[in-house]
Amino acid sequence: MNGLEKSAPHEGRSGKFVTFEGCDGCGKSTQLKMLDGYLSERDIPRLLTREPGGGEISEAIRKILLSGKNAGMTDECEALLFAAARIQHLHDRVEPALKEGRLVLCDRYVDSSVAYQAGGRGLPENFVRGINARALESFLPDLTIFIDLSPEDAFRRKHGADENDRMEGAGMAFHRRVYAAYKRLAAETDRIVTIDGRNSPEQIFSDILRAFSARGIL
Ligand code: TYD
Repeated sequence: MNGLEKSAPHEGRSGKFVTFEGCDGCGKSTQLKMLDGYLSERDIPRLLTREPGGGEISEAIRKILLSGKNAGMTDECEALLFAAARIQHLHDRVEPALKEGRLVLCDRYVDSSVAYQAGGRGLPENFVRGINARALESFLPDLTIFIDLSPEDAFRRKHGADENDRMEGAGMAFHRRVYAAYKRLAAETDRIVTIDGRNSPEQIFSDILRAFSARGIL
């Protein structure tokens, strides 16, 4: 996601696609719940989903990816599994919902792979982008909300990392690299709108609604 990013083709799809990104514990889930309530009050057809997961096969891959028992997983294997779960999720959930004209809200997407597997793990960005070509070429979001909260602030808020979660337990240096990668992506990419995650949930929510309106999502 750089100056070369092309807008999503979205042929035959009338729904809009919005993704939510940020460090572990940045407050995405709270915001998605608030947004779901807001949309439900207005009867707006939508799909709320998450990555990795959001379907039977993708949820099975999620368990392998996040289990603290799989400490021996290589970085390449991890990146390929995230990409595999994504392709399946696009097929099972996202594409059908977009065709039906629903607003798709997804908790994490391809920017997570660039931030975590390239930024955090140090895999070549070309490799990560290559295995995610389907997402980047055919299913680019209309808008991505980046909730900007440093890993220090995020873990302080949730009283430390969950050590049984393989990704959360990867250490502060890892999460700092992830955060730096997000900041760089957000600075380079028009699609991504940065929201200050240090504010109150109500303020963050109203900032998100403003971004939705500015980008013609709502
Ligand atoms: P999850 O429990 O859903 O975390 P969160 O609530 O913070 O989203 O776990 C998802 C974890 O997987 C999270 O640490 C981010 C990581 N991840 C990647 O490393 N690469 C990816 O492509 C995706 C989608 C997630």
